[in-house]
Amino acid sequence: MNILSIAGGQALAGDIRASGAKNAVLPILAATLLSDRVSTIENVPHLHDVTTMLQLLGQMGASLTVDEKQTIEIDPANITHPQAPYDLVKTMRASILVLGPLLARYGTAEVSLPGGCAIGSRPVDLHLKGLEAMGAEIKVENGYIRASASRLRGAHLFLDKVTVTGTENLLMAATLAEGETLIENAAMEPEVVDLAHFLQAMGAHIEGIGTSSLKITGKTSLNGTRYRVMPDRIEIGTFLVAAAITGGSIRLNGSCNDALESVLIKLQEAGASIETGGSGADAWVSLDMHGQRPRAVDIVTAPYPGFPTDMQAQFCAMNALADGVSVVTENLFENRFMHLNELARMGADISIEGNRAIIKGKPSLKGAPVTATDLRASASLVLAGLAAEGETQIFDVHYIDRGYERIEEKLSHLGANIHRKALPGPA
Ligand code: EPZ
Repeated sequence: MNILSIAGGQALAGDIRASGAKNAVLPILAATLLSDRVSTIENVPHLHDVTTMLQLLGQMGASLTVDEKQTIEIDPANITHPQAPYDLVKTMRASILVLGPLLARYGTAEVSLPGGCAIGSRPVDLHLKGLEAMGAEIKVENGYIRASASRLRGAHLFLDKVTVTGTENLLMAATLAEGETLIENAAMEPEVVDLAHFLQAMGAHIEGIGTSSLKITGKTSLNGTRYRVMPDRIEIGTFLVAAAITGGSIRLNGSCNDALESVLIKLQEAGASIETGGSGADAWVSLDMHGQRPRAVDIVTAPYPGFPTDMQAQFCAMNALADGVSVVTENLFENRFMHLNELARMGADISIEGNRAIIKGKPSLKGAPVTATDLRASASLVLAGLAAEGETQIFDVHYIDRGYERIEEKLSHLGANIHRKALPGPA
């Protein structure tokens, strides 16, 4: 069994480069299924979830080559099995993203229902409702979604809730549907925009990109293309909080500052000096705490451009050590506070009232053995361990490998005392 062991108390300092965005590369890899031509995807992060998506595409019949710079070439010409089996979907819910492309391109798809996960029940009813409105026949039986459509037709869709992967599935399906599709109340996350730009590069006709109303005019076929995935704004935000919580000063190269606005503003509220510069692939962001303890900041999560739910756990860790009392409100998922129990084991003073956490900042936390429960919860435990007195051991560390590329390497480069250790016992 692997754990991460952290000896806290080092103020982080130095420069690192951001990786490609997990939540952009996953829908983009799925979107390659919309064409029978080769696509080349650059800046792909080396993550467990990406490996799972590649396994899924390979199992369908796509041929894949990966070079040493993690550029991936996908040839979807010989897809023979338009299925996503339970054993892969259960390890990565985002497998649902192959449903729209398979249905649009092959007229049939069999995708295991993604179960819930630690943070919530994670239904996909809005994905299915939208595809049915576009003419798909969908049966859900024996834990599988079985969908078929001779050819999807354009429809006027209104999403009852803002759903990121729901918007992405319907957007991908609409690119090959007959006629025009309007998706209202669409998610505007930067990763949805990145997917839309990739689809446009394949020849899709999409208007309203970056807004909550997407208009897609279906084509009969799409081409292959070459595309560079956007930087991971959640990885960047996580490292910025790592510097803030340890009173350090770091710079991230290859940033996406416009996509981080709400996070950067909250870090300034906490007392950080933030500077940004460069443009495109040369954009950068730096944070300097001047050795100060962060001030407590209230957080309310919301769909983009609101504060991202994927940064909530990280800010809870910072608030646990901040000067003052903060209220953190989680509006997206019904069970995304499990990191708080583990932070409390390190001495954090937190009480939960429904979807609100009241956090009384303390001058220090104590290292302890803690257990990760989901991807961003594990990140918050790493952050707390970096600032705590003594050693923190994080169990179930596989969660963190799903969403952070070489995290201990990057943190060590910034001066953290963090090591992966193999302990006897089950893997
Ligand atoms: C995406 O998940 C991200 N994952 C999540 O990141 C992120 O937390 C989430 O969006 C919100 O930003 C990927 O992009 C791969 P939703 P998604 O559909 O699409 C409800 C991470 O840590 N809903 O936007 O699954 C749902 O229950 C992960 O990287 C329905 O009710 O989230 C939730 O309350 C965690 N019916 C809300 O909408 C549906 O059909 C938002 O969920 C779909 C969603």
